[in-house]
Amino acid sequence: MPHQSVGFYNIIQNMSEIRRIAIFTSGGDAPGMNAAIRAVVRTANHYDLIVYGINRGYDGMIDDDIELLQDEFFRNTIQRGGTILKSARSEKFKTAEGRLIAYENLKARDIDAVISIGGNGTLTGAGLLTSEHDMCMIGIPSTIDNDLFGTDFTIGFDTAVNTAVEIVDKIRDTADSHNRIFLIEVMGRDSGYIALNVALASGASALVVPEKNTSIDQLVADLKKSLRRKKLFGLVILAEGNQLGETSDIAKLLKERIPEYDIRSTILGHIQRGGSPTAHDRILAGKYGYEAVKALMEGKRNVMVGFVNNQLTFTSFLDAVTKIKQPSQYDIGIAEILGR
Ligand code: F6P
Repeated sequence: MPHQSVGFYNIIQNMSEIRRIAIFTSGGDAPGMNAAIRAVVRTANHYDLIVYGINRGYDGMIDDDIELLQDEFFRNTIQRGGTILKSARSEKFKTAEGRLIAYENLKARDIDAVISIGGNGTLTGAGLLTSEHDMCMIGIPSTIDNDLFGTDFTIGFDTAVNTAVEIVDKIRDTADSHNRIFLIEVMGRDSGYIALNVALASGASALVVPEKNTSIDQLVADLKKSLRRKKLFGLVILAEGNQLGETSDIAKLLKERIPEYDIRSTILGHIQRGGSPTAHDRILAGKYGYEAVKALMEGKRNVMVGFVNNQLTFTSFLDAVTKIKQPSQYDIGIAEILGR
């Protein structure tokens, strides 16, 4: 894998600076987080670093819920969904007082650096902690939403898409049997990556994502076009963060406009966050974990590791969470044409 290499001398020099690291998972869990934990600990052990695990994300950092991680801790977990370090969306860490306590707990253990595995909220927290205190961090992008700038894929996205596609295939069977239209809402708080990829992979008739304004008129037209092609059932994939509205409200509007069809809706919800990670997510997590430890040893500070076009990248926490990363209009256009 290409990366910015450093000389042997530099590695040895920086190895003496970083001796103890900590790792945690935070925010919405994502399949592959355990594989990332494993990769960080294995790589750190390889370089004789001491690794602490922080339980329950930033909450555990504040509550001093921190323990030494041995190899046994993550044995037999590469295939498991969820996170063995647990996760949380911490309200306390949003306060300066909370972050000061967290910093003091890390310092009390002589922890030199922290590797965070998570999404938007996790990296926002990392940006705050490192700007306010003398602590360095490296971020590993992990969220099923795939909405972090600075990397093509976040851990968990591929698994979530595959989980959703499997369920949409099952819904297709019953939609086909009854000649019904199904609205299927997938996750993606502000992002249409999951919806777009599920629509493409499941041959959906229509797609509603935050990145494209779709009116109810347009949706009705798309569906009617698809139904006219003797396809007697319809599958509409909606991202939860779409601008058209609540799925149940959209279903009511469609019923008024296409009364001859029976319309049902399903919200896939947290089922998309669980389950065994795909090979893609496990491999990605392994590379991120390895590169995060190496980045620390090579003197990188306060950045998120990523891969863009298969090239290793480092992005500031601020850019990762504030710069816009969106699915391409090209892909959205293909989904629309193939669906109609
Ligand atoms: O982690 C991302 C995500 O699954 C979003 O797609 C979703 O909007 C949100 O988290 C749900 O969060 P929670 O599980 O805290 O309700």
